[in-house]
Amino acid sequence: MRDAAPQTIFLKDYTPFDYIVQDVHLTFKLAPRATRVISRIRFAPNPDASDTTFFLHGEQLDLKWAKINGADIAPSITPEGLTAEVPEGAFTFECEVEISPETNTALEGLYMSGGMYCTQCEAEGFRKITYYPDRPDVMSTFTVRVEGPHPVLLSNGNPATSGEHFAEWHDPWPKPAYLFALVAGDLIAHPDRFTTMSGKDVELNIYVRKGDENKCAFGMEALKKSMTWDEKVYGREYDLDIFNIVAVDDFNMGAMENKGLNVFNSSCVLASPETSTDANFERIEAIIAHEYFHNWTGNRITCRDWFQLCLKEGLTVYRDSQFTSDMRSASVKRISDVIDLRGRQFAEDGGPLAHPVRPDRFVEINNFYTATVYEKGAEVIGMLKTLVGDADYAKALDLYFERHDGDAATIEDWLQVFEEVTGRNLKRFKRWYTSAGTPQLSVKESFKNGRYKLTFRQETPPTPGQPQKKPRVIPIALGLLDESGAEVLPTQILEMDKRQKSFKWKGLASKPVPSILRGFSAPVILKRDTDDVERAFLLAHDTDPFNRWEAGRELAKSTLLNMIENGAPPNAGYLDGMLAVLRDDTLDPATRALMLGLPSQSELTQTLSDKGVVPDPQAIYEAVQTLKLAMAQHMQDTLPRVYAQCQVEGPYSPDAEPAGKRELAIAALGLGSRLDGGKAAKEQFARADNMTLQISALAILLRQKVGDAELSGFYEQWKHDRLVMDKWFGLQVSAAAPEDAAEIADKLTQHPDFDHKNPNRFRATLGALAAHHAGFHHISGRGYTLLADWLITLDPINPQTTARMCAAFQTWKRYDLKRQEMILAEVDRILAQPNLSRDTSEMLTRIRS
Ligand code: ARG
Ligand code: ZN
Repeated sequence: MRDAAPQTIFLKDYTPFDYIVQDVHLTFKLAPRATRVISRIRFAPNPDASDTTFFLHGEQLDLKWAKINGADIAPSITPEGLTAEVPEGAFTFECEVEISPETNTALEGLYMSGGMYCTQCEAEGFRKITYYPDRPDVMSTFTVRVEGPHPVLLSNGNPATSGEHFAEWHDPWPKPAYLFALVAGDLIAHPDRFTTMSGKDVELNIYVRKGDENKCAFGMEALKKSMTWDEKVYGREYDLDIFNIVAVDDFNMGAMENKGLNVFNSSCVLASPETSTDANFERIEAIIAHEYFHNWTGNRITCRDWFQLCLKEGLTVYRDSQFTSDMRSASVKRISDVIDLRGRQFAEDGGPLAHPVRPDRFVEINNFYTATVYEKGAEVIGMLKTLVGDADYAKALDLYFERHDGDAATIEDWLQVFEEVTGRNLKRFKRWYTSAGTPQLSVKESFKNGRYKLTFRQETPPTPGQPQKKPRVIPIALGLLDESGAEVLPTQILEMDKRQKSFKWKGLASKPVPSILRGFSAPVILKRDTDDVERAFLLAHDTDPFNRWEAGRELAKSTLLNMIENGAPPNAGYLDGMLAVLRDDTLDPATRALMLGLPSQSELTQTLSDKGVVPDPQAIYEAVQTLKLAMAQHMQDTLPRVYAQCQVEGPYSPDAEPAGKRELAIAALGLGSRLDGGKAAKEQFARADNMTLQISALAILLRQKVGDAELSGFYEQWKHDRLVMDKWFGLQVSAAAPEDAAEIADKLTQHPDFDHKNPNRFRATLGALAAHHAGFHHISGRGYTLLADWLITLDPINPQTTARMCAAFQTWKRYDLKRQEMILAEVDRILAQPNLSRDTSEMLTRIRS
């Protein structure tokens, strides 16, 4: 049951909890539909609190009894929790509740997945396990006893005693309840050990279901690399005797950093060459690092309240991106991150769901695990580091860890350490945290008598609830090139801290070509009147790998926009530039592959609609196809040579270098297949001995509509493997022609292997439809209706996954009236469902506003 009008929670209303928790003892007697949870919690009045109301969160709990200081009490219970009369001073609260993990399809709290018990408590799932002050600023040590017939019984911290059918765990580090975890099942460990920098021996395990034990080795290596890296780069050492990871098939997101017991979506930890692509390997390495890094940025220092979510997430995403840059190619990582940022975060920031990196209100916090909090949150850290420099960044981080270890901290605490270390005033910089929307940075240049001037202006469009925007501090990394392509000014950082600001250089022999926002030094939209000649020049000469890629991307965009808006043919300069890139053996293959990629269709849509043009998804799709065909023809002679050069000999390795070669080979194969009818792709599919080659060939064949035999062969080969079958589902949708995408997705939802209760399978199928721009937005409206039908089906089962996928509708205002009407009709149809979850109703209400 929920309230008729869900409540909005405001940052400004924060007050501390009235009590402190001294320690927590929990006993779990596991049973699929009748698990008993017995708690014993010692409370004491909080000297910092103003009031003394004893309220504990608790939802969907069947309370059996409750006691205070050993005497029975009769607390008052509401759907949100429990209130009781308590004595003055310290006291012990005990209770027993019954819960039903097996029927918990929301996958929040304690639930079952493939016969095992597992938990997900962030953000507010612990209240579905027992009565507790379920807020991140209430921290305590936990002692947990798990009773059940399962061979593996896990919880947080260090193992204490265990025996037949029980195990006890003690976590000495005070933690908030969202970091609690419990796992029980018939699991197999992939064990290892790690010695920390101070010589402490740590036991490591990855626990998986039978049959998955040969997919753990890569994740384990990634874990050890992460542990070493955090010691070397941040001086952070692991702090328990044991670190466990568990792979779970039914999981709402990627993974969770529970103290000493990380729980992972199996898709984010299990890897093998035969079943995982190069991209899967890279992502798994990054997510393992991310969750491990949370041990310091998240667990040792946690968040005071959920408005501060970016304190741990922005910083931890930033740290995992540094890690990936160190393990692989820094420029490739940066380019990929920016593609992702523009694809997901810019769309969010430019639409009805826009919110600050630190939001100031929410209805359902689960709706704020967003690209803005995570990815833009990480960009903000990157800008801060750029502004203060590496040395002061390191000092500030040391001070942060020293001062706030054991705290539930805020963004103010975070900025404070930077202000103290650098003597800077970060008031303006802080607007990156409090103000939503992507700034548009326009630039004008002038050159006279050897004097060169750049004038920047920043403007941020209004976002929901924030009509006026104040200027922020934008670090602009800039270099200048002369007409020969030589660098006359190496990269320097301009601090753009006003609405408008000019920067000048003198003594230049000729008008330079500026390379602005190198490395994408700030998450802004750069608006510059320039032409394809200059773009082609930068594509050929820029010393900054990011801006070289960016110049190519801008060229592609201008070509495509000219094709879409004016029916122009593909631009010959672009085709020549890309041929030069393809042939440029001095560029590493991964970078070349990235350069050959085109801007996504949804990015083109956003650019068009920013210019006031109503985008036609079909026309955009066709322009992209036309351009790819033209590229294939223009590169006809070179493609087979590059494909041959990029063949990797020997056993499969997921390292950056061979993966980059495969990426370029696949890009060449994809273009070439537009001319050879898929012949070479069929050959690759037939001989592929790893998933990267196999699935990329299949994708190409499906796009050419010549892959039916391979598609069913693939099914027969992999129908036993859940994660590979997710790929099989998703690929058929993403490779479909726009007019077929919804129908194919619809058919797949009727396939016996489709299981809408499994978030991975649901996302593989319906998420692929939402991501197929021209297919989802096909004028028939079938995509909209199908997605809405499934969201209506899923909402009562799993509100979190439903709400997340509602974001597919967030861009409705970009489109023509007919599409707008169709989308809004579906949004309203969902909103009209009785008992719609708070998650979904908040998302759709915001989208509609
Ligand atoms: N803290 C986890 C991570 O960043 C994600 C938890 C997401 N929780 C949620 N309710 N969406 O790795
Ligand atoms: Zn995280």
